[in-house]
Amino acid sequence: MTRHRSVWAATAAMPEFPALDGNVHVDVVIIGAGIAGLSTACLLAQAGRSVAVLDDGPLADGMTQMTTGHLTSMHDDRYFEVEKLHGPEGARLAAASHAAAIERIHEIVRREGIDCDFARLEGFLFLAEDDGEATLDRELAAAHRAGLTAVRRAERAPFGTWSTGPCLVFPDQGQFHPLKYLAGLARAVERAGGRIYCNSHADHVEGGVPGVVHVGSHVVTGDAIVVATNVPINDRLAIHPKQAPYMTYVIAAKVPRATLPKALAWDTGDPYHYLRIHPLEDADLLIIGGEDHKTGQAHDAGERHARLERWARERFPMMGPIEFAWGGQVMEPMDYLAFIGRNPMDHENVFVVTGDSGMGLTHGTIAGMLLTDLILERENPWATLYDPSRVRVRAAAEFARENSNMALQYADWLTGGDVESVNDIARDSGAILRRGLEKIAVYRDAQGALHERSAVCPHLGCIVKWNGSEKTWDCPCHGSRFEPKGNVINGPANKPLASVESPEHKRAA
Ligand SMILES: Cc1cc2nc3c(=O)[nH]c(=O)nc-3n(C[C@H](O)[C@H](O)[C@H](O)COP(=O)(O)OP(=O)(O)OC[C@H]3O[C@@H](n4cnc5c(N)ncnc54)[C@H](O)[C@@H]3O)c2cc1C
Ligand code: FES
Repeated sequence: MTRHRSVWAATAAMPEFPALDGNVHVDVVIIGAGIAGLSTACLLAQAGRSVAVLDDGPLADGMTQMTTGHLTSMHDDRYFEVEKLHGPEGARLAAASHAAAIERIHEIVRREGIDCDFARLEGFLFLAEDDGEATLDRELAAAHRAGLTAVRRAERAPFGTWSTGPCLVFPDQGQFHPLKYLAGLARAVERAGGRIYCNSHADHVEGGVPGVVHVGSHVVTGDAIVVATNVPINDRLAIHPKQAPYMTYVIAAKVPRATLPKALAWDTGDPYHYLRIHPLEDADLLIIGGEDHKTGQAHDAGERHARLERWARERFPMMGPIEFAWGGQVMEPMDYLAFIGRNPMDHENVFVVTGDSGMGLTHGTIAGMLLTDLILERENPWATLYDPSRVRVRAAAEFARENSNMALQYADWLTGGDVESVNDIARDSGAILRRGLEKIAVYRDAQGALHERSAVCPHLGCIVKWNGSEKTWDCPCHGSRFEPKGNVINGPANKPLASVESPEHKRAA
């Protein structure tokens, strides 16, 4: 079984790009080469703008490689909930934007000739064990009001011997191999004259005329800057309190070819299960996700894949051994829609996209379309809906709940460590150790060597937690994540966990 690596990462040959080796000026600088950054770069370059994309890893090394690749206009928070917060017109615009994103991906695939297993297919929303049919009735009515008039009810989803019970059918959804799609997008950016720099970490972003992105000793300047790092690295307080980080987990196992239909499916649970089929040469791969929890706040993260497997085997006894198990993080906006547009409290030429949720592939594509229009000063009907400065008063209860949960995380400064001594830490595992006033994140590698870092998150000072399933240090406050030796893999933190000898660590202690 392959752990911590998705089937996509194992089956795509990604193009390589050089690191930045001098100063560059372009019309638009884009930080982040995931689906949001590359979609924006592609559409701007094809509209005649010069663009430079910076990524601090290889191409598409972020959450887009961890996705399950559902492209959907089914809203995972339900249209009746979106309607409550954004009104009927907001729900209608949201539905139209996700449908348009699927169509735009389809069009890019056709036009650029991208071989990425793209398929149009149906999606089935079925009831979780503890849910009742009223949920389906409410959602069917809300989906119709939102303009998705082809959504219909069915007796069951066509999943072989497993009876899902009643469900809603969403026609014209999509799926693809996300990394093959991003490889094709990157080539399209290059063909349109855009430049891509990998292994080029953006240290600092300054709005202004021009905007400046600092990358080590070099600068990239532009008339506009787009921060598409999944979680913004340039925001401290304007957006982070309006979204919450959640970990979500995935398993994949072979099933005999054509025993299950090529379709998407989701249940109505919270957290919910999501499934799809990916064609392999010798079989179909059944991919199932779920078991979400707030980042850094589960004490049983290591058990999540096992629970998913039990859920899956009860329903799909034909499944072979687990071939892949991985997980990743999504940012859940408290009012259910991504934040795409001008960065609040910043110069007007700095743009941002975040709040992806479980619909980040369509949200990332919507970002490409919307940000291109904003930068080219064209009208776009979705601009107000996705404006990162928005405050929806009706989301106040959710806002208060998530933020008091976040504030509680600072109490970790006062508690003991996970272990009394480093001798209690197994190989390839980590734990927090209290040493006097200090909290240390200690990782024991597979050879037995110890690696110590400050456990204080460099973003706003919460104490990180060990995630035994993904082997990462996760921050429970705003979702920064670090690999076992402390290097940052998810913002908003933009630097590693401090060395235990550093002045920052001593000051924090
Ligand atoms: C398990 C899982 C399943 C999912 N399933 C689905 C699904 O079925 N459908 C769906 O629509 N969505 C799904 N999502 C969500 C979706 O995959 C993501 O929201 C989406 O891929 C995020 O794209 P992005 O471009 O915003 O971010 P990313 O892909 O993370 O790209 C951001 C890039 O920014 C780079 N970066 C960060 N900081 C810096 C810096 N300082 N300097 C330079 N570069 C930097 C990173 O290296 C990274 O490459 C899922 C997510 C997970 C984790
Ligand atoms: S992510 Fe904000 S304090 Fe860690």
